[in-house]
Amino acid sequence: MSTPVPTLTTPRLTLIALSLTDCADYERHFIDYEVIRHLARDVPWPYPAGGAAKFIRDRVLPGQGQNRWVWGLHRREVPGLIGAVDLWREGRPEHRGFWLGRQFWGQGLMTEAVIRITDYAFDVLEFEELIFANALGNERSHNIKERTGADLVEVRPGSFVDPAYDRREIWRLTRDKWRRWKRGPA
Ligand SMILES: CC(C)(COP(=O)(O)OP(=O)(O)OC[C@H]1O[C@@H](n2cnc3c(N)ncnc32)[C@H](O)[C@@H]1OP(=O)(O)O)[C@@H](O)C(=O)NCCC(=O)NCCS
Repeated sequence: MSTPVPTLTTPRLTLIALSLTDCADYERHFIDYEVIRHLARDVPWPYPAGGAAKFIRDRVLPGQGQNRWVWGLHRREVPGLIGAVDLWREGRPEHRGFWLGRQFWGQGLMTEAVIRITDYAFDVLEFEELIFANALGNERSHNIKERTGADLVEVRPGSFVDPAYDRREIWRLTRDKWRRWKRGPA
């Protein structure tokens, strides 16, 4: 079933389907070893010229709204992409990836985006559960999962752009757990 990627809003962000018009902003914020080093080994480093356009054209657009939903993050008051959240139907085992330009870390913006997209995943896309993954030692990514109700289930071997990482944490968030988390402490 096709479900076009909708524009979503949060208090501080507009989440807009990633498109080729985002290439320049994507490269401006993404091509940074401090962003890329935490990602899976199949992300190239050094990042090639034109890599964002190729990624969006060849990997994102063919599946957008079919088996993959990729949003760019834009601050509501300032246009321009500052990060992205990627959700995919088939687990690898994880169903989600995200990154944010380094100058925007530490403000809760990704947590805000992830909460809105998790609602969308369970309520509209009808996922029963979401699996997440991050390098063991990627504390910022770990903290987002912990902060938003996911349960750490396993640590497996893994390889990342930064060769110092060699294991990955696997997390699970079920629809029921999400609903309980949204209701807050009893
Ligand atoms: C992962 C990544 C998106 C997290 O960025 P982040 O800024 O830590 O995440 P958030 O935007 O949710 O901000 C949370 C931080 O802001 C702080 N914060 C400030 N105001 C906040 C608010 N209103 N709500 C929530 N957190 C807030 C939190 O305390 C937290 O800081 P802490 O972890 O030191 O406690 C970013 O580090 C990144 O892009 N890393 C590289 C790519 C990457 O690792 N991707 C994930 C691969 S699995």
